[in-house]
Amino acid sequence: MSPRDPAQPLSANAHLLRWVEKMAALTQPAAIHWVDGSQEENDSLCAQLVASRTFTKLNEKLWPGCFLARSDPGDVARVEDRTFICSNSRDGAGPTNNWVNPFEMRKTLKGLFTGCMAGRTMFVLPFSMGPVGSPMSQLGVQLTDSPYVVVNTRIMARIGLPVIREIDKAEKRVVPCMHSVGAPLAPGAKDVPWPCNKEKYIVHFPETREIWSYGSGYGGNALLGKKCFALRIASAMARDEGWMAEHMLILGVENPEGHKHYVAAAFPSACGKTNFAMLIPPAHFQKQGWKLTTVGDDIAWLKPDAHGRLHAINPEAGFFGVAPGTGLKTNPNAMASLAKNTIFTNCALTPEGGVWWEGMTDEPPTECVDWQGKKWTPALAKETGAKAAHANARFTAPAKQCPTMDSDWESPEGVPISAIIFGGRRATTMPLVYQAFNWSSGVYMGATMGSEMTAAAAGTIGKVRRDPMAMLPFCGYNMGDYFRHWINMQRHLSESPRIFHVNWFRKDKDGKFMWPGFSENMRVLKWIFDRVRAGGRAKETPIGWVPRHKDIEWDGMDFPEEKFEELQAFDRAGWRAEILGHEELFIDLHTHLPKELIYERELLICRL
Ligand code: OXD
Ligand code: MN
Repeated sequence: MSPRDPAQPLSANAHLLRWVEKMAALTQPAAIHWVDGSQEENDSLCAQLVASRTFTKLNEKLWPGCFLARSDPGDVARVEDRTFICSNSRDGAGPTNNWVNPFEMRKTLKGLFTGCMAGRTMFVLPFSMGPVGSPMSQLGVQLTDSPYVVVNTRIMARIGLPVIREIDKAEKRVVPCMHSVGAPLAPGAKDVPWPCNKEKYIVHFPETREIWSYGSGYGGNALLGKKCFALRIASAMARDEGWMAEHMLILGVENPEGHKHYVAAAFPSACGKTNFAMLIPPAHFQKQGWKLTTVGDDIAWLKPDAHGRLHAINPEAGFFGVAPGTGLKTNPNAMASLAKNTIFTNCALTPEGGVWWEGMTDEPPTECVDWQGKKWTPALAKETGAKAAHANARFTAPAKQCPTMDSDWESPEGVPISAIIFGGRRATTMPLVYQAFNWSSGVYMGATMGSEMTAAAAGTIGKVRRDPMAMLPFCGYNMGDYFRHWINMQRHLSESPRIFHVNWFRKDKDGKFMWPGFSENMRVLKWIFDRVRAGGRAKETPIGWVPRHKDIEWDGMDFPEEKFEELQAFDRAGWRAEILGHEELFIDLHTHLPKELIYERELLICRL
């Protein structure tokens, strides 16, 4: 059989063909490649990426099917200050988003994209967020001049021919996603391993459901199905259509009697969502018969079913996980997921042709090549603090390789959600766990969430910022309207999920973490499960329901009652300061703030 001509359109959809033609005329690529998603195509693109030095093939025996990419040092994370929500009005985007008049932005983009793919191939990359054909899925087509994006998206989403078939049915809207690394190649010019541009624009038009991304090849800036589509554009779709697009993991919990509940949990970026989604219960729980399963680690789309029960799908097909801190001790399921067929970005290369990052093993390799291609040794690290891997180094791994994937993780109807958990990285004030009194106090809890900033985005690491529902960088419209949508959602539910807040990161007076976290978080999860299932025991406090020491399962762990009291302590002075922090956010949002949240705040102040 002669090989397929990749320039030959794979779709018969007239709108799609016209758009591809128009965008090719704008960006002037040297070639067009319709992505079919096949293994042969992927192999050939990976070989091309190795030839262009974007990829290093890892040792096939140790890391089968794996590659390492090193990005440009100026293109290592999401760029929130270059991310724009260009709704028709400034008010539509709200004060927490960067807004530019869409007319102005379109002019800017036209300038940037004119001829920007010269000398490169424009890939036509059809993708489905969610299982192909699921009523909860959404379709997109990304035009991109980055083969790195194509091979990553093949892991992160469903792509290629099955998606084209959906598009050709023309039953669903298709979200157009334009992407260029912004580095046209002059004839005969030599390419660099990681083409990108200093000038970056990650632009969303929520009303027309369009995404335009320029200048970056990295993660959420470039894999447009993920943050741009599945959160920013999808949140706007969800508001209009009565569902929710959330920055949440989804996890199944089954007790020894075989009763199962699913929980969804929103934590800000790089706060341990992947670890929590793949949690392994402590030995004692395993012996009893508790089982945990993974549905997703980053994004959840939630929709009431015909009976008013909230169901969720994971719109992604892979994990784009933070590598540093991931190891056999902290997350063996993630390590199993990334053991093969994985793309590593900005990790270190070991002399055996493998990858390494801080936290993968207790013992570092005797030497390696760091994420910038320089020699790294443990001695150098001691002397200069140099890291072998970038703090936001990532693995792109197929979800199906995770040993704990839930049998229903690709169910077209999704899984029923019994509890929603909010959490942040907080050294003070926030107890290990508490439960909101009801839906509206839970919405208040999520809306006022704070967390210390991490390396997932460019910014000041460690500073506490308000990150409502962990959606601050991802909400595609006015945050006040988003809170209203949350409040309203309850009206469509016959049974609302219970809402909880957790904090694995509280520190004691000496600055030490008070809670060991990781698999011990199962003890918190069990309390949540018991509360959901049978109204398990708890004590009322001004902020919500909390477990007493005796309400938590402690078998196999020595955690004295006084220590637990300290971990759960309600810090009145801390909460006064906390509420002032809430007020700052509320002042910014006041014109769109639902009155329910103002009442909740008043009630909280009264209880304090
Ligand atoms: C992510 C993020 O990549 O939140 O998931 O930054
Ligand atoms: Mn995320």
